[in-house]
Amino acid sequence: MARTLQLFLSRSSAPKELSTLIMAVAGACKDIGALVARGALANVLGSAETDNIQGEEQQKLDVRSNDVILKAAEACGVLAGAASEEEENPVPLKAGAPYLLLFDPLDGSSNIDVNVSIGTIFSVLPAKPGEGVEPFLQSGRNQVAAGYAVYGPQITLVLTLGEGVSAFTLDPRSDEWLQTAGPLAVPEMTREFSINMSNMRHWADPVRSYVDECLAGKTGPRAKDFNMRWIASMVADVHRILTRGGVFLYPWDKREPHKPGKLRLMYEANPMTLLVEQAGGRGIDGNQNILDIQPTSLHQRVSVMLGSKEEIDMLEAKHA
Ligand code: AHG
Ligand code: MN
Ligand code: MN
Repeated sequence: MARTLQLFLSRSSAPKELSTLIMAVAGACKDIGALVARGALANVLGSAETDNIQGEEQQKLDVRSNDVILKAAEACGVLAGAASEEEENPVPLKAGAPYLLLFDPLDGSSNIDVNVSIGTIFSVLPAKPGEGVEPFLQSGRNQVAAGYAVYGPQITLVLTLGEGVSAFTLDPRSDEWLQTAGPLAVPEMTREFSINMSNMRHWADPVRSYVDECLAGKTGPRAKDFNMRWIASMVADVHRILTRGGVFLYPWDKREPHKPGKLRLMYEANPMTLLVEQAGGRGIDGNQNILDIQPTSLHQRVSVMLGSKEEIDMLEAKHA
């Protein structure tokens, strides 16, 4: 009989308050999963016709998911504050509580209306004294937990508490999260890469050279044929990498040269890098480990390259 998430947490080294927080987030993901499953029937498809702080158009499901997680965050009683992709400023919660939650309530927004896998990403930091954004500006190394839910053919929760990575499937029969995999291990070597190829003409030389070598296949310098996958939901692409290896890139490019990349450090890159590292892979921005970046703003963007160790080592060498 598979272990429930609750039992898994009780047997881990997680303090009681952290377990409470994880159960609250997992509960919110169940509720979002139910909205996703009903789609048009729950009136959650289409645009909300508003923009978020990133200047991106919000979908109805971005807004609904944000509300669901914020409600759970407030109710759980162990959060000093929460920060979301969809909120300009952090939301102060219970003064003196031990944790901060950072989240991307709905990742892969362009896939909502076309019934392709989407997800929720979250990161947990220890609370720090101070007000506003300041306590949140901690490097990814400080994360005490990170994870995501992927709303795909199955609803799966993937979690790390800093001692390996485990996966739980939501059983629609019992409405329980049951452990179905773990500890996950990202194979060191791969033949699969993931990047939005339509941006090729905008890439920097090291990325261009890396992908060229993958494309050259058996007769090229890598001496093997590569496959390419791009789902355009980071959760789904990273889930594939945690399951069978691969490398995911959303690098800086020349479209908007003043931006370090598209993805956000605090609630996309940091939690995903911790998961990948905990499974034996790596995550860099090109020059340094993503988890070592000292953030300077809440919604800061970052170039992301993560996955199988051999590929990340190679990308790092090309950037050196
Ligand atoms: P979000 O929906 O939270 O804004 O994130 C979307 C991100 C990420 O999930 C994905 O890897 C990437 O954007 C897709 O970008 P392209 O549309 O450029 O492929
Ligand atoms: Mn996202
Ligand atoms: Mn999002």
